[in-house]
Amino acid sequence: MTSSFVRVLKAAELPATTRKAVEVAGKSVLICNTGERLYAISSICSHAEEKLDCGRMGRTWIACPLHGARFELATGRAMNPPATKPIATYEVRVVEGWIEVAVPE
Ligand code: FES
Repeated sequence: MTSSFVRVLKAAELPATTRKAVEVAGKSVLICNTGERLYAISSICSHAEEKLDCGRMGRTWIACPLHGARFELATGRAMNPPATKPIATYEVRVVEGWIEVAVPE
């Protein structure tokens, strides 16, 4: 499996405490700016495939808006039921003012 970084949006377009879903290599990826750092995770909940875009976001987690499962932003680990399976996480970085994400193809 290979992955290379892809530019997805300008860092200025993602202020602190916001998140935005982007498509990378056919996957829906949620870029989260907690104000302390950036994370890139799957934007699809592992419980019943709800989109996480509109979920509440804390410093280290994002919550599914449908049934309230929370996922750890750093690891994708499901932190509470009803989700039990993790979601994918991806490498993310900022280069020349652009947010770049690496998604395996
Ligand atoms: S769809 Fe996300 S917790 Fe049920």
